[in-house]
Amino acid sequence: MGTLEEIKARVNIVDLIGRYVVLKPAGKNYKARCPFHPDDTPSLMVSPEKGLWHCFGCGAGGDAVGFLMRIERLSFPEAVAKLAQELGIELRSSGDGKSRLFQVNAEALRFFQQALRSAAGEKARAYLLSRGIGEPLWERWGIGYAPPSWDGLLRALSRFGVQTLLDLGLVVMGERGPYDRFRDRLVFPIRDEQGRVVAFAGRAFEGEPKYLNTPNTPLFTKGTVLYGLDLAKEAIRRKGRAVVVEGYTDVISLHAVGIEETVASMGTSLTEDQARLLARYTEDVVIAYDRDAAGEASSLRGMFVLYGAGLRVRVASFPPGEDPDSFARQAGGKAVEEVFEQAQPFPEFFVAALSARHDLTSAEGKEALLREAQTFWPEIKSPVLRLTIVTGFSHLLGVPPEEVQEALRGVARPVSRAQEEGGPSLTPEDLVVKFLVEGKVPDSVVPELVGEERRFNEVYREVVRRWAECWAQGEKPAPAALVAGLSPQGAARLSRLLLLDLKVAQESQALEEALVRFLFLPRLTERMNQVQLALKEAERRGDPEAVRHLSLEFQRLCRERIELLRRS
Ligand code: UTP
Ligand code: MN
Repeated sequence: MGTLEEIKARVNIVDLIGRYVVLKPAGKNYKARCPFHPDDTPSLMVSPEKGLWHCFGCGAGGDAVGFLMRIERLSFPEAVAKLAQELGIELRSSGDGKSRLFQVNAEALRFFQQALRSAAGEKARAYLLSRGIGEPLWERWGIGYAPPSWDGLLRALSRFGVQTLLDLGLVVMGERGPYDRFRDRLVFPIRDEQGRVVAFAGRAFEGEPKYLNTPNTPLFTKGTVLYGLDLAKEAIRRKGRAVVVEGYTDVISLHAVGIEETVASMGTSLTEDQARLLARYTEDVVIAYDRDAAGEASSLRGMFVLYGAGLRVRVASFPPGEDPDSFARQAGGKAVEEVFEQAQPFPEFFVAALSARHDLTSAEGKEALLREAQTFWPEIKSPVLRLTIVTGFSHLLGVPPEEVQEALRGVARPVSRAQEEGGPSLTPEDLVVKFLVEGKVPDSVVPELVGEERRFNEVYREVVRRWAECWAQGEKPAPAALVAGLSPQGAARLSRLLLLDLKVAQESQALEEALVRFLFLPRLTERMNQVQLALKEAERRGDPEAVRHLSLEFQRLCRERIELLRRS
């Protein structure tokens, strides 16, 4: 058994947490006052059966390693080492062990790079070239290809031992034995500041998930690395600023047009660790996300984190439909610079991004805007930032600043009580995810759900993706296995869901209803909107055949909608 599995199998989560707080039995579980926020009711719940903990007050949660990381402020490898020591499990002597692991990743990289240049890599080479990523870039970024076979890498690296490959996340253990994690994917190595390969990202040519990443390993903790920093750090120092984008291809294309101070957050919202990393090199950050993605709540939260770390943050907006990658390749470096020059200071951008989502000509729209802004209030810590934001909304809404501030402060509403006393208030999305990971969604519906992963919020998307990965291999993963390797936010959310005991009398009824509200109804509404647009277009064109056809389709959808509403 590998060190990590052995630790997970042997650690007693109740003993561990019991060292820091007083645990009281509560049914199958234990309860305590949460050590992570002022807590007068016991809102921390520990499940020995599931190996998970969660605080229903502050929302923190995860597995034993996560608890130790948080309470002792340790990194993932440090927490693992501490537990190993306590349990008397021999860690492969740390220094050596790590350099050996780095060596194995380097070998894996070589394997992927060779495969890209082999006959099997033909499709991958053509794909890269079609996206304007030529051979010199393959070298610079270490791009490779994972062939389709189930054990190509496993066999090529067998001399290092299966356990090591499992520890590094290169190989996955299935019911019928170990197999390669990355198959028939482009492979981008993720390197630390010093250029050592800590993880890989595999991009599918088609199908889901689009990107598959290495989970947390002794070399890699999600949210602590910035993609491209090894190649960008010199330019960041030289130019006195960093550009932060979302994706691997965005980094590659911006570097290619001379903007070499670019790094990527890799799809999740920016963390404090990443902010600290950047702050070591510069005080100035330009955020360059897809236009729509930039205004999403999770992106905005990441920007607050950067701002909170003392960085000057500006947000660049590309033309609609363009991301940094496509724009840089089409318009070139000079045009990108021009976009950056127009970048908005973060506080202004925040006000504008929220306002764009609401109709400010109506009272309802204004109320809705304030309600949304309220949810960010806890993140707006600096008084200067508060003032700027409050003034911004005040101008927009024509409401005095004091009243805006009152409204924004209104709900620092603790979620805890409502959930503990009045029963959990779960959204249809929560319910769908809970039923899914508990294996209660019928097999016939699973592919539909997984195929519409874009409907889930960012955190759940990660959970659903991981679950689907196992499910596709014919396995239903244990709760603790799903939580391990998630980002801290992801771990907290999932542990909450899994520890909630639903008192739903009719589970299948609740599931059906959640599916209707989360998936079937929104999907139908989208379809109806499309048909309606097409219908208008056909009327404008004067195409009676299409009008007739589309009207029938619209009527059919209406009936389907009524049927759905009746069912729920
Ligand atoms: P995008 O979907 O914008 O991908 O996700 P991309 O970087 O533009 O990739 P191309 O250009 O289509 O090839 C942005 C980032 O979000 C993360 C990745 O880090 C990706 O680069 N992501 C996205 C994932 O981790 N998994 C996914 O399934 C999708
Ligand atoms: Mn993109």
